[in-house]
Amino acid sequence: MIIYQNISLKPYNTFGIDVKAQQFVEVNTIEEVQVLCSTFILHERKFLILGGGSNILLTKDFDGMVIKMNLKGMDAIREDENHVWIKALSGEIWHDFVTFCVDKNLSGVENLSLIPGCVGAAPMQNIGAYGAEIKDTFEELFAIEIESSKLVKFTNAECKFGYRESIFKNEAKNKYIIVAVTFKLSKTPKLNTQYGAIQETLGRKGITEPKIKDISEAIIEIRSSKLPDPKVLGNSGSFFKNPEIPASQYQVLKEKFSEIPGYPLENNLVKVPAGWLIEQCGWKGKKVGNTGSHKDQALVLVNYGGATGDEIYQLAMAIQGSVQEKFGIKISPEVNLV
Ligand code: EPU
Repeated sequence: MIIYQNISLKPYNTFGIDVKAQQFVEVNTIEEVQVLCSTFILHERKFLILGGGSNILLTKDFDGMVIKMNLKGMDAIREDENHVWIKALSGEIWHDFVTFCVDKNLSGVENLSLIPGCVGAAPMQNIGAYGAEIKDTFEELFAIEIESSKLVKFTNAECKFGYRESIFKNEAKNKYIIVAVTFKLSKTPKLNTQYGAIQETLGRKGITEPKIKDISEAIIEIRSSKLPDPKVLGNSGSFFKNPEIPASQYQVLKEKFSEIPGYPLENNLVKVPAGWLIEQCGWKGKKVGNTGSHKDQALVLVNYGGATGDEIYQLAMAIQGSVQEKFGIKISPEVNLV
């Protein structure tokens, strides 16, 4: 393991923000993660774990140690009549893992095609898209407890998954380094094509009996058509979570804004698309300095080149303020602010 000093993090975050890390180290094995925890007494230091850097906004130089997870490997570890369990190490690119499953005709993660980031980061925020979340296929994960350097296991229930939530964003925050995740994939496809654009896309392609690969390809097409490619335009996917508001508040808003979309949830809550709220406040496609809200998806903030993290943060706060003012709804960032 080589520990570098004063390294630019620009290549390591999809917003393309140019800040420096005081120390930077890449880890390739579970043993290296354990050595790092014990030798560097990580729990007493300032550190940042980086996977694909696709869900983070770096607002200033990082005066601690950045640990880039580079652990690779994917294997089928168990099989029964209906399922195959695949274990992937945390540094695997998420979409490579999806492709691995789709190519083996295993179902469960095809709707999550092309989500940026790494396998190890996926459980942190229970990544989700097009009607699927990883909690639906997640079996268990292995993590190193930073204080003890021990390998520990978390079951699905122990991860306390919620909408873009898990124990690792709450009580277990900064206490564990996820090193491997096991998923339970289905041999008999349970295709989820309910999300409007999927059926539309399949229909346009003349596919009436879709296979797992067809769903994956449809998702790739949909995502590519409206979400900017971070390699071309720096971004971090959805910047905010979709807010969940009481049904009573939604009804009041509906009287004033008859077009307001809403998806009823349990507990008398309604999920409102933040993209709609932001668009209604006039931000969609608007450029502010080197940043802006994307022209095809208002929820995605972009770096047009040379933006600082603080510039993007200021834009996000301005957007948050105007949504609060117009609708009385607080939208919270989905990305991690550092
Ligand atoms: N909408 C607008 N204007 C916009 C964008 C969206 O009016 O500019 C409204 C429309 O009513 C649209 C609705 O919002 O029907 C939903 O939009 P979309 O299908 O694009 O989904 P989203 O709720 O904005 C969520 C996830 C995405 C995921 C998509 C697809 C969150 C925070 N985001 O976005 O995840 O890809 O659904 O399932 O839940 C990510 O987390 O980074 C991400 C991209």
